[in-house]
Amino acid sequence: MAISKNTQLSEPLLPKTIHLATVDSTNNYAMRLIDTASAVHGDLIWADRQEAGRGQRGKDWADQAGQSLLMSLILAPGLALNEQPLFLATVAMAVLEWLRSLLPPGTACAIKWPNDILIEDKKAVGILIENVVHGHDWQWAIVGIGINLGQRHFPESLPRATSLWLNSSGLISPEQAAPELHEFLLERLHRSPAEVWEAYNRNLFRRGEWQLFSCKGEQIKMLVQAVDTDGRLCLQHESGHLERYYHGNLDWVWD
Ligand code: BTN
Repeated sequence: MAISKNTQLSEPLLPKTIHLATVDSTNNYAMRLIDTASAVHGDLIWADRQEAGRGQRGKDWADQAGQSLLMSLILAPGLALNEQPLFLATVAMAVLEWLRSLLPPGTACAIKWPNDILIEDKKAVGILIENVVHGHDWQWAIVGIGINLGQRHFPESLPRATSLWLNSSGLISPEQAAPELHEFLLERLHRSPAEVWEAYNRNLFRRGEWQLFSCKGEQIKMLVQAVDTDGRLCLQHESGHLERYYHGNLDWVWD
């Protein structure tokens, strides 16, 4: 384990970068720092490999050693709890913009609600944000980000996955990517809500298109309209009726 920008008790606490060869999950490691009162706003943990990487909704997140950026950023959000959707949209937009800067001009990049990043309609980035809340106080957010960088192939079980390498002539290593994205994210955290939502919706996957979703065991085709400031996906039924869905109440029929 290498720790840079080390902190000492007598000095102001500076964020640290922790690089691990192997870890269970960088999000778990970040949570342990918080639990032991060792976390500082801006701390970055990244690893070459995760043995128990975690995805959204309790799923696993598998990686091929050295081929992905596997990182967690610890933030003290300084926001009200009802601003979680804004925070999520801010993070997703920042990651999308950073990724886009590495791709050939014109490459399609989009956010699949709520926060998957797609390149040419295939998933290249997963984001798992975990929060520490005390009462009404949102104390910490752990922003876990997994980016497929160098994968040449994916298993047949992941037909909708892609990597930076598969879409770009150049390749960035996790060593280069971790500090770059860290800095980029910290800079982009303070955009105005209006700017974030405009950019998020401009980059929303399938916006203005009819798309099949699954909801309460039924498959329904609906027109993707936008995501509102509560983080709900606004969809139009074929009847013209508009409905807003929270994440977890609706699935894309996409895999
Ligand atoms: C998803 O399901 O799309 C979210 C995947 C998030 C994966 C990243 S990799 C770094 C961090 N540590 C984890 O265990 N998960 C996140």
